[in-house]
Amino acid sequence: MPNISKKGGAMPESPIRKLVPYAEQAIKDGKTIYHLNIGQPDIKTPQIALDAVKNLSLDILAYSRSEGSETYRIKIANYYEKNNIEVTHDDIIVTTGGSEALLFAFGSIMDADDEVIIPEPFYANYNGFSTASGINIVPVISKIEDNFALPPIEEFEKLITSKTKAILICNPGNPTGYLYSQEEIQKLASLVKKHDLFLIADEVYREFAYDGHKHYSVMQEPGIEDHAIMIDSVSKRYSMCGARVGCLVSKNKTVIQTALKFAQARLSPPTFAQIASEAALETPQSYFDAVIEEYVGRRNTLINELEKIEGVKVAKPNGAFYCVVELPIKNADHFAQWLLEDFNINGETVMVAPAAGFYSTPNVGLNQIRIAYVLNKESLIKAVNIIKEALKIYNN
Ligand SMILES: Cc1ncc(COP(=O)(O)O)c(C=O)c1O
Repeated sequence: MPNISKKGGAMPESPIRKLVPYAEQAIKDGKTIYHLNIGQPDIKTPQIALDAVKNLSLDILAYSRSEGSETYRIKIANYYEKNNIEVTHDDIIVTTGGSEALLFAFGSIMDADDEVIIPEPFYANYNGFSTASGINIVPVISKIEDNFALPPIEEFEKLITSKTKAILICNPGNPTGYLYSQEEIQKLASLVKKHDLFLIADEVYREFAYDGHKHYSVMQEPGIEDHAIMIDSVSKRYSMCGARVGCLVSKNKTVIQTALKFAQARLSPPTFAQIASEAALETPQSYFDAVIEEYVGRRNTLINELEKIEGVKVAKPNGAFYCVVELPIKNADHFAQWLLEDFNINGETVMVAPAAGFYSTPNVGLNQIRIAYVLNKESLIKAVNIIKEALKIYNN
């Protein structure tokens, strides 16, 4: 049999994938599973977006332009303007999800063996995108004790080598839920200017900022126009994960021209989904107000319930819809599997994501899990109770 590539062999599996067979078996055994492990919101997609596709009368489902439809890009630029981000449609390339925007960003600015510094824990698929792009992630540890705030800037600086091309942040963070302050963005801005690096900001959770905090984008920071690359997506904003539409935004013309060549090679982002995404931009503010209120309520419920469990440490998130939780156990991988295989309360159990997969430093985060609060409050209370009772038995 011919061999697969070294790169193919090195591609990481999703950190929760190894738990899927256990979840499938639990379902076959008749158990109900509370899924705290995935970032698929249960929030309804705005009707206006669904109707736009339903009411279409197209004769040909054609390609769009490689950079995305012009009307859509103009409307995205308007949306950014409302969010105090000054860009034009020429600064935007529509992509197949934020995922493709990340791949285009990596491909446009880094060569094989180049390095990107990322605060960890980080969105696990950054590992896959880096392997696919032949580049290396250099992690800088952020700590649960600090709520996963930006590590001291000196820690980043120590890691900069001749191979370093970029710093990547996720704001607000998956899996941490941490929302970077303007001051933290400014510290990063000074650093990337000093060392002439790119600053990639994955801002797909921008709308999800809580407790009166306002999201501050790298695109708002003056003086780093040639350094900043923003990654965005409709997936979480409008609960449209299946649309597969995102975008790459930069004021750096060379970055855009380069990313466009990657976009041309794959011809076009999805046409139906761009129509839905364009319509979604008309979603009224009341939709977001209700969604944010719902997530804040869920977060408060979740944190309250978790803090009642002895030995549990939680970083209080002020954005996105995830949190990292430290449990009084040694190995969260084993605990997560045990929950699915060997534990239930009245036929119900919980699926969580072991957090070690969100770190690239070995042996860090082994006793941590990521919880996505994408279930209603009642389910969250039940799910945390299951974890609480499970810990009592697991630890004996
Ligand atoms: C931090 C982060 N970035 C990017 C993505 C990619 O999302 P999509 O490709 O659906 O836009 C996700 C999806 O969960 C994410 O959590």
